[in-house]
Amino acid sequence: MIGVLNHVAIVVPDLKLAAETYRNTLGASVSAPVDLPDHGVTTIFVNLPNTKIELLHPLGIDSPIAKFLERNPDGGMHHICYEVKDIFAAKNKLLEAGARITGDGEPKIGAHGKPVLFLHPKSFMGTLIEIEQA
Ligand code: CO
Repeated sequence: MIGVLNHVAIVVPDLKLAAETYRNTLGASVSAPVDLPDHGVTTIFVNLPNTKIELLHPLGIDSPIAKFLERNPDGGMHHICYEVKDIFAAKNKLLEAGARITGDGEPKIGAHGKPVLFLHPKSFMGTLIEIEQA
């Protein structure tokens, strides 16, 4: 069901420092920061030859990643995103298999303008998984 790895998302306490580290220490191609107010995050995209890394920082008071940063003040890996062809087919298959989907279980438009679902870490060995219809 899942296809290619779309991105790995890392929450960082200092976006500027994170961008400099990826650019200068790791030699990666790094975008300018992008505010996504609907998602409560500011994002920097690190473009790798085969996938992307998203550096995430809370934006606004209700950011869904604020608590994560409180629990992990140095930052850390937040989720991984796999592509699927059909988000509703994927959802049905996941529910049949007993997997937990977060929130109300309905696909939402994600940070890239495509429908996404988040799958509960308890169903996937402690890792929050995002699936995106590519
Ligand atoms: Co994501």
